[in-house]
Amino acid sequence: MTMTPTGVKAVEILDSRSRPTLAVTITLDDGTTARAGVPSGASTGSREAVERRDGDPSRYAGKGVLGAVGAVNGEIAEAICGRTFTDQAELDRVLIDLDGTENKARLGANAIVGVSMAAARVIATAAGLPLWRTLNPSGVTPRLPVPHFNVVNGGVHAPNELDFQEFMVAPLGAPTMAEAVRAGAEVYAALRDLLASRGLATGLGDEGGFAPEIDQPEEVLDVLVQAIDRAGYRAGRDGVAIALDPASSEFYRDGVYRVAGESLSSDDMIDRYAEIVERYPVWLLEDGLAESDWDGWERLTTRLGAKVELVGDDILCTNPVIITEAITRKVGNASLIKVNQIGTVTETLEAIRICREAGWAQFVSHRSGETEDTFIADLAVGSGCGQIKSGAPARGERVAKYNRLMEIESAVALAYGIARNG
Ligand code: PGA
Ligand code: ZN
Repeated sequence: MTMTPTGVKAVEILDSRSRPTLAVTITLDDGTTARAGVPSGASTGSREAVERRDGDPSRYAGKGVLGAVGAVNGEIAEAICGRTFTDQAELDRVLIDLDGTENKARLGANAIVGVSMAAARVIATAAGLPLWRTLNPSGVTPRLPVPHFNVVNGGVHAPNELDFQEFMVAPLGAPTMAEAVRAGAEVYAALRDLLASRGLATGLGDEGGFAPEIDQPEEVLDVLVQAIDRAGYRAGRDGVAIALDPASSEFYRDGVYRVAGESLSSDDMIDRYAEIVERYPVWLLEDGLAESDWDGWERLTTRLGAKVELVGDDILCTNPVIITEAITRKVGNASLIKVNQIGTVTETLEAIRICREAGWAQFVSHRSGETEDTFIADLAVGSGCGQIKSGAPARGERVAKYNRLMEIESAVALAYGIARNG
């Protein structure tokens, strides 16, 4: 289906962390319009596509995005308005070429991804289809993904002493999306009560999870298992499992990992994870080692790859070239998928395809700075990948995605759960 944009307009809005980001609206010649909100990360990989920020200290401490807004309303509008595109890939190619840099730094990855996401949505709207249908490659069965609820926040997402960034609960054993969301919310409520009964704070981190003053990861895992039990679920793969994203690049310096005051080598970390996996129902480990520690990642994959889904986030950056290298080197067995990390919808779909064809899992993800946009819910369904993370079952920008998934489920009968062999 072709599309001819007649207008593209960006506005500076706020993300969930009170930092500026962009909302982009595209209008087609037939009057169809669609909008996208641009997410933004805090624990970013060094090889991510680069957000353009104004750097003007008199506005938002330099974090304004008026330059990126100007790029959309100026150069990009000029390049795409009045031109007919055969598909998303052609439009994205024009954006990439117009930018001309390796990492989208000139126009700004935030400008480019906003236009690319809005284009994907306007294509679906013009076709009268839900977005997930137009993000569904031929031959791939769409499915409802297992939601991974980030219920305890640490690292750079919270002001506590906890070095590991994310502790997630994943209702792998739920029969439906609706029951999975219910399990997440009930565990979250039980966890709040448990923390409060121990006199721990129940204030929230950036992704809506609690941010208690606990420094040892194992202590959090103990409380989580109790919360799952107290909510009436079985802790494990046939019930509610646990997923971890230590985001370890953030506490890796000079070849050493610093966890709760201890200095650990890559092999110490691998031993620690091996013990954790023995003791707790942890089914997934994301960024267990740092983005620069490829040798450590190889050993981690040899040791735990058969037992645990090992997801690369900072190390892979949703980048098809880096993912291909990781597949060859047997570094990890799954990739996190963040649209703004690579900067266009087309490259995101390419990253997903490469993973699928290599037998790697794909884990669709929000960012710690979000808008109410539900794009990733549809991306997860259309890709058929079977897993998504969008933070806690709390806060509007997080639950918007889970609510969208329940609405998709209520409209169409789709299978729920982890995809086996694509
Ligand atoms: P970010 O973190 O959005 O702050 O980069 C998310 C993650 O590490 O998965
Ligand atoms: Zn991560």
